[in-house]
Amino acid sequence: MTVASEDAGFWIKDMLAWHYTKRAQAKAFTLDHFIDKKPIPQKEKERLKNKINGRKTPQLKPAFEPLMLAQKPLEGTFINNFDKWAVGLIDTSITMDGHFPSNVLKVEKTEKKDKHGHPTQKPVALLEHLIKIFTQEGQTVLDPFIGSGSTAVACYKSKRKVIGYELESKYTSIARERIQKEVARAGFAY
Ligand SMILES: C[S@@+](CC[C@H](N)C(=O)[O-])C[C@H]1O[C@@H](n2cnc3c(N)ncnc32)[C@H](O)[C@@H]1O
Repeated sequence: MTVASEDAGFWIKDMLAWHYTKRAQAKAFTLDHFIDKKPIPQKEKERLKNKINGRKTPQLKPAFEPLMLAQKPLEGTFINNFDKWAVGLIDTSITMDGHFPSNVLKVEKTEKKDKHGHPTQKPVALLEHLIKIFTQEGQTVLDPFIGSGSTAVACYKSKRKVIGYELESKYTSIARERIQKEVARAGFAY
């Protein structure tokens, strides 16, 4: 994705890590049941199990997802560009933990009770934090892969406009429903 974005003309600025500690599934698996199924004598099975001694396939439990940070090439300097387009600089007063915003974003994965039927639903708090750093109230955020609409909800919460694309109609319905609820809660629509 990063290579394609760079080929398309974006400047690659950083890699961010969305770091979580809960609700991640460990992927490494034990091999005992494969050994049990092998057409070999029981003694040989025991020898293999003893040698492997409970070791698992080489996959450590995921605790982060990488995010690419890119920007369109500036028009002139940072100052000229911001003066013309009002983007490209960040608001470092936005904080999740009282500290200067860093490229490690500690936000837990969405709890089951807050899931809306999309397998990779992102936490609204994570998106809201990023949206507030990179944009201002009233600006428009594009999410070309909007899924169940978490970015849209984050935009409404932070008073930004949003444009979203989604291939699957089952997800656009979920997104629409979530947006309607958020608009009703906020009492206004962008
Ligand atoms: C990682 S998911 C987004 C999840 C979303 N952030 C959320 O919290 O629900 C990516 C979505 O992009 C959609 N998608 C994939 N290719 C697409 C395309 N070419 N145009 C529009 N949507 C696409 C998939 O159907 C999927 O729902």
